[in-house]
Amino acid sequence: MDDFFQQWRTYRTVVNQGYMEHNRIADNILRQILPLAQGLDILDLGCGDAEVFFQLLPELTVNAYRGVDSSAAALEVLTERFNNRDVAFQLDCQDMMDFLSSHDGQSDVILAGFCLHHLSFDDKKRCLELAYGCLREHGVMFIYDIFLQPGESRNQYLANYLNYMQANWTAMSVQELEALSAHITGCDFPEEVQTFRQWSQDVGFEQFRSLWEGGWHSHKLLQLKRG
Ligand SMILES: C[S@@+](CC[C@H](N)C(=O)[O-])C[C@H]1O[C@@H](n2cnc3c(N)ncnc32)[C@H](O)[C@@H]1O
Repeated sequence: MDDFFQQWRTYRTVVNQGYMEHNRIADNILRQILPLAQGLDILDLGCGDAEVFFQLLPELTVNAYRGVDSSAAALEVLTERFNNRDVAFQLDCQDMMDFLSSHDGQSDVILAGFCLHHLSFDDKKRCLELAYGCLREHGVMFIYDIFLQPGESRNQYLANYLNYMQANWTAMSVQELEALSAHITGCDFPEEVQTFRQWSQDVGFEQFRSLWEGGWHSHKLLQLKRG
């Protein structure tokens, strides 16, 4: 991957402006996890500065939070966000595939937000396999990310997303839009929801639901449950 996430400010502006719909994603996840037992162990893959987790936090009793990200800059911001919060947390500055390959802990909830699309096709499936092994019985994984429409090619996806961004992300400077375009063009490899549905069956998840689709259609939230 490029070094886009090593300078965190541009992505933070995107999140603050609501361009990737983190508020609505958090609302939809909250509706699903409120009925779960409290005292949750949460694993956040490609956590960045954990925007969705911090939106969920006031409503949950968290036993421990574990965040994994390869960007030191993101984890620096995240460490500051934990200041004065009464939550046990551990952050790992590591590739998520390396982390998952050697992690032997188990969680109640796994979040994977806008990060799986950076993995290769094979690693995405392997990531689901490894994540399944890190979930307790009845544990749940939430994947919120960008997805291809059925039959859409990556080139069509890129043209659509970049047009949408140029037309709607009006708070971004010309330089920021250029950096975003270069990052998206070089590093975004989304798949169709159907591909994730098939993988989740292959891996053994008992339930797969497409929970939410964003105002921009490629933003979606999936829920995978271990029975
Ligand atoms: C678009 S940001 C999403 C951050 C956060 N999850 C959110 O929803 O706002 C993608 C994050 O995934 C991280 N990332 C991408 N590929 C990764 C990998 N292979 N291992 C660990 N982190 C990765 C990046 O460093 C970045 O912080």
